[in-house]
Amino acid sequence: MTRPRRHARRPPARKVSTTRPRRVVAARAHGKVNLDLRVLGSRPDGYHELRTVFQSIALHDMVTAQEKPGPFVLKCRTPGVPLDDRNLVWRAAAALWRALGRAGDPADTLVTIEKAIPMQAGLGGGSADAAAALQVLGRLWGGAALSLLREVAAGVGSDAPFFLSGGTALGLGRGEEVYPLVDLPRHWIVLVRPPFGVSTVEAYSWYDEDRAAGVREPRIDVQILPVPWPSRAAQMINDLEPPVIRRHPEIGTIKAALREAGASAAAMSGSGSVVFGLFRTRPAAARALRPLAKLGESVVLSHTLSRAEHETRARPILRRV
Ligand code: C5P
Repeated sequence: MTRPRRHARRPPARKVSTTRPRRVVAARAHGKVNLDLRVLGSRPDGYHELRTVFQSIALHDMVTAQEKPGPFVLKCRTPGVPLDDRNLVWRAAAALWRALGRAGDPADTLVTIEKAIPMQAGLGGGSADAAAALQVLGRLWGGAALSLLREVAAGVGSDAPFFLSGGTALGLGRGEEVYPLVDLPRHWIVLVRPPFGVSTVEAYSWYDEDRAAGVREPRIDVQILPVPWPSRAAQMINDLEPPVIRRHPEIGTIKAALREAGASAAAMSGSGSVVFGLFRTRPAAARALRPLAKLGESVVLSHTLSRAEHETRARPILRRV
């Protein structure tokens, strides 16, 4: 005989959390290429006066900020990324904290960076991460006006303000004065990263060295993009390219190979070392990947983003976990 069960089985009681859900804010940090970069002169502050045309690209890192009690922490799994105040994200966080009138060092926050943009490449990865960090931290820390974020960004890195708006834009001054241009019609981009990087400081010092030594620059090779687009500012000339090619001739080889592979135009981006080629269609760009593969440590297919596309894709997203 079976004994009667004294208690009917009840489903286990659901745990009721008494803690408030943690807020997590994430944003894409899109890279850029420079469709033109002219050095207009030296400045008393040691920087160079520029006229450049920035162009957002789909390739992006991811920056996430979340509430975490204790001192400010920066995490990134990619080797070689500094996780202290050498990282522009760290500096952006500290500068925003101060600009919001908070005392001491940033706290109670964890920021995570997931890298896809190669480093020392001229694609603005560090500054893009810093700009995205400002957006997500502004949201997490109770809101910050875009004008304040722009001001803070300009103090963190010369091209950081551009990443707050994106698209196709003119950069003046150190590059921090940003004016929207009519967006370049969508192009597909092949980005070739040679097996070495170039630091920004290095590229500008090579430029100065060559000027001081009276080195004659090669004939300027204007490349006008064959698309209906009113801007004449983007002629695919980069004044930093000749001094960098003089030290790294591989960059010239990659540029020639991109043109050979059918690119409408090709140039080094920013201070290098990435060389990019512009293509009108995805299949045309995809066909160029294989012949370029042997010249680069990485060869990536991407495309340009308009300002509106950038705004939608880079918008911070809030979750509660
Ligand atoms: O502003 P950011 O920290 O990105 O600049 C890094 C370095 O690049 C500067 O310290 C400077 O050597 C060089 N630079 C320059 N002129 C600019 C932008 C950057 O000389 N307009």
